[in-house]
Amino acid sequence: MKKTMLVLASVGVFASQASFAAAERTGEAVFKASCNMCHGAGIAGAPKFGDKAAWKARIAQGMPTLYTNALKGIRAMPAKGTCATCTDKEIKNAVDYMVSKAK
Ligand code: HEC
Repeated sequence: MKKTMLVLASVGVFASQASFAAAERTGEAVFKASCNMCHGAGIAGAPKFGDKAAWKARIAQGMPTLYTNALKGIRAMPAKGTCATCTDKEIKNAVDYMVSKAK
């Protein structure tokens, strides 16, 4: 019995790690959960979602700059858009998503 419990416990740990690694959120999912509150309506000077004019000069900086500013924050833009649980890749996905809708 004790042994069964141990096996179950280690399977549980393994499964939770596996699902954590596998479940990368899409740009759209991250955007809706963490970025839309500011970028949806253009709050505090945030470039508004889908607003080509607002994004033009930002996109012109190049994607690496946009990724860095999204990850580290810039002026009123908080680091990772306050999504502390997002991976760097997930933040990049969200930037890609916003940029793709503003071109
Ligand atoms: C608390 C409000 C807020 C949230 C939440 C937020 N942003 Fe922003 N974001 C801003 C503001 C304000 C700016 C404009 C900053 C500036 O240039 O002065 C900005 C700018 C940006 C830029 C352009 C940076 C540049 O170099 O021009 C990107 C990319 C960006 N945000 C991505 C994101 C992503 C991705 C998320 C979600 C994970 C997010 N933001 C969530 C407020 C927010």
